[in-house]
Amino acid sequence: MKLGVCYYPEHWPKSRWLQDAQDMRDMGIEYVRVGEFSWSTIEKEPDQFNWAWLDQSLDVLHQAGLKVILGTPTATPPKWLVDKHPSMLAVNEQGQPRGFGSRRHYTFASLEYREECRRIVTIMAERYGNHPAVVSWQTDNEFGCHDTILSYGAADLAAFKIWLKEKYGTIDALNKAWGNIFWSMAYRSFDEIELPNLTVTEANPSHRLDFHRCCSDQVVAYNKLQVDILRKYSSGRDLVHNYMGFFTAFDHHKVGKDLDVASWDTYPLGFLDQEAIYTAEEKQTYLRTGHPDFGGFHHDLYRGCSNGRLWIMEQQPGPVNWAPHNPSPALGAVRLWTWEAFSHGAELVSYFRFRQAPFAQEQMHAGLLRPDASKAEAAGEATQVNQEIDQLASALGIARNELEALPSSGKVALMFDYDACWALDIQPQSQAYRYLFWSYRVYEALRELGLSVDIIAPKSDLSTYEMLVLPAQVTVDDELLAQLNAFEGVLLAGPRTGSKTESYQIPEQLAPGKLAQIMPLQIERVDALPDHTQLDVNGRWGQGKLKHWHEQIATQLPVLLEDEAGLPVLVGEQKRFYLGSCLDNSLLKTSMAKLAELAGLETTYLPRGVRLRERGNVIFAFNYSQMEKCFTPTYVGYKIESVIGSERLAPAGVSIWLKHKTV
Ligand code: GAL
Repeated sequence: MKLGVCYYPEHWPKSRWLQDAQDMRDMGIEYVRVGEFSWSTIEKEPDQFNWAWLDQSLDVLHQAGLKVILGTPTATPPKWLVDKHPSMLAVNEQGQPRGFGSRRHYTFASLEYREECRRIVTIMAERYGNHPAVVSWQTDNEFGCHDTILSYGAADLAAFKIWLKEKYGTIDALNKAWGNIFWSMAYRSFDEIELPNLTVTEANPSHRLDFHRCCSDQVVAYNKLQVDILRKYSSGRDLVHNYMGFFTAFDHHKVGKDLDVASWDTYPLGFLDQEAIYTAEEKQTYLRTGHPDFGGFHHDLYRGCSNGRLWIMEQQPGPVNWAPHNPSPALGAVRLWTWEAFSHGAELVSYFRFRQAPFAQEQMHAGLLRPDASKAEAAGEATQVNQEIDQLASALGIARNELEALPSSGKVALMFDYDACWALDIQPQSQAYRYLFWSYRVYEALRELGLSVDIIAPKSDLSTYEMLVLPAQVTVDDELLAQLNAFEGVLLAGPRTGSKTESYQIPEQLAPGKLAQIMPLQIERVDALPDHTQLDVNGRWGQGKLKHWHEQIATQLPVLLEDEAGLPVLVGEQKRFYLGSCLDNSLLKTSMAKLAELAGLETTYLPRGVRLRERGNVIFAFNYSQMEKCFTPTYVGYKIESVIGSERLAPAGVSIWLKHKTV
């Protein structure tokens, strides 16, 4: 449990660096990320390098005992480089190149740009690979930020043709897989293929899905190119990339395989304001703390992307600048977010940024320091967390650096599949339905019951889980089917599971495709509803509403919930269940509680806005609401010892307890 900051020495006079380093140390900061946007400072003219500032700033940080995460500067290529290779620019869906003057002005598929990346990363890695301050490298910055994964230029088309040839071998195989007999779309050769933009009406969904997969694979290859260089010149350092919130445009599981740690950038208030998933009421209630599951959902998702190792590379420290509205966090919210991250297994929480910049795009974005270097509110909260980490370690009777060994996995797994997300976004059928949002609401229901959840990739090991939820596992292939069949815990498959083949066609036996082999049922029709329509649901497992998506299920399985017409909504027996509709929050929660009970898991109906997380025998509670909440965790056969806070949780409050066996 360590603290860090994002720092830009190139933004400040050299005379300030030592003071900054000392201030960081005083706040308990151990890690500093530098360099990720510094290409034009390093290489102002082609092949003319200015290393002095980076040499000196790394030395200052090192002498102060700080550890450096060095960013490769490839998210911001300099102007001269773009002018040299204009075809490296990404092209938007309307066919226009995206210009210079901000950042991320490149397409992942550009081979010319990849060569430039190879050059600059090699030079940097040779120079700093063994620098004693450098303990880690961040590749690039936020792949895909500002909508830069799908690009529609010549470089992207060239990459797509190669990708398709490798996948299909023959054009006939592609035509068949895509169903190109429809609307006379058949191609005679791979050379004829175009990108799925600028078509008169909707392009073929199979075409779009393959294009999305190809673009995602370009990100994987682009990242891998940098990883290979860094491993060669800087062995033993942790390689990491910083992912984003509610961002699914590339397969993070695939990128994560090449990295040592998954990190992400968490801006709870910015996302609350900006995202369509949140209701007006939620935006009001959680205005200053963010939604209670925003942090947890992403911590658990990204922890599953790199073998369980998680960092927070950028933590919101105050108001940001980029959301439609940018309110201030509640007093204590920065502390709350930091502890929530640690409770989900984060090894590091690093604040963005150390000092607010008085210039350029992000001048209204807070830092731990204000532009005049005085301490902003979050500096005190970071210092407080630093002291509390010591308190927790001493209550456990272990050294501070041993806290990382506390287990962070839960007993419930939620399967998250990027491919399913693209597939369902391509043809949502009801605009009210989004795979990501539905998965988030399922996660929310589990967390409101006090359950600790792991969000896992398809094909992950299932053996440690008592309960598994597939929110909408669109494609069920033989391998997944065998795994599900062997799974001994309680399984819930959600609506749209098994509804498409890998090439985006309806399976011969209809949805849920191969899943029907272990859950005998068939989906005969779908009622895809607008946002304003909710239908009544009743049954043995409770009553409430369904919305967005409602399948007509034909089955002999016992019916646990049914719709107004008496048709099945939730069916199953023993340990296998199928849900054909999106349920409202409260019915979803009671259904999850029944499943958890069948799985032998203890649940608690938490007060609104309160969340709970366990790591080994440490219990964390968080209050995201604006009111004080009373909550004492109870476990059969255990007694509870308070370490930080009490059963009275102030607004934005945190309490930590230890759980001891009584027998
Ligand atoms: C992130 C980005 C940072 C900074 C920050 C502002 O998306 O990685 O460079 O822009 O947002 O909140």
